[in-house]
Amino acid sequence: MATAVDHYAVMGNPITHSKSPFIHALFAEATGQKLHYAAQLVEQNGFSQAIEFYFDQGGHLGLSVTVPFKEQAWQLAEIKTERAEKAGALNTLWLDGEGKLNGDNTDGLGLVRDLKVNNGISLKDARVLILGAGGAVRGVLEPLLTEQPKEIVIANRTVSKAETLANLFLGQPVSGCGFSDVSGSFDVIINGTSASLQGELPPVSGSVVTGNTTCYDMMYSKDTTVFNQWALNQGAGKVIDGLGMLVEQAAEQFVIWRGVRPDTDAVFKILREEMS
Ligand code: ATR
Repeated sequence: MATAVDHYAVMGNPITHSKSPFIHALFAEATGQKLHYAAQLVEQNGFSQAIEFYFDQGGHLGLSVTVPFKEQAWQLAEIKTERAEKAGALNTLWLDGEGKLNGDNTDGLGLVRDLKVNNGISLKDARVLILGAGGAVRGVLEPLLTEQPKEIVIANRTVSKAETLANLFLGQPVSGCGFSDVSGSFDVIINGTSASLQGELPPVSGSVVTGNTTCYDMMYSKDTTVFNQWALNQGAGKVIDGLGMLVEQAAEQFVIWRGVRPDTDAVFKILREEMS
């Protein structure tokens, strides 16, 4: 008798370049889990129908969600983790034993794990500057705050968006401002803007960077990203790109779905090598 295979997938638009099928296949192989993970292109206005259809098929247990459906996934999930509530967007869906749609956002956990475990950067009592105030930044704030930094400053081109985000965390050491209002230096600076997609830099003063600063670009690329090159030019102690975050957020999904933590180091190295 054939053994049933559990099914997972990533939904997004576009989806061709998603590395998730490759990453989850490597995790499955390394942990001996029998599963199939597909990439599914979903029409812009077809997400809720697509997930309904998906989970109606037997053995379809979990989904990754990517651009542009993360906010819709948040609206559709019946049960969300606390960090996902605050994130306003989900990247992970699954059905619980009662058939209810559950959701989580593992992006922030992935970022924190890449900083702490893979790169040895502690956020405890750190002064943290985050550039950008869009969905990507909102998604990671709660897990960053859990690490008890001294302060998180969110700087954004549209100042009101930075202030609105900071106001979601009243009573916690988070503030929002414009790029030109940022003063002093920081232990950790995270670029969460999409400026680098246009090859641009958030216009923040170079004085925020010292030799003790770690700069983290949530984007990743084959070569040093525009932001990380800028940071190096300012004398940053360490620069990291978002490839590790990509692998770690997927590992957190794998833990949720399968109850097993895959080794991420080997997968990270394979991806980095493939990019070179
Ligand atoms: P994402 O889901 O990637 O976060 P988003 O929600 O559209 O996408 O947010 C993009 C972020 O990048 C925003 O903070 C945006 O600034 P505004 O809120 O002022 O639009 C920022 N951003 C995009 N292009 C930028 C640029 N050229 N310079 C600085 N910030 C930029």
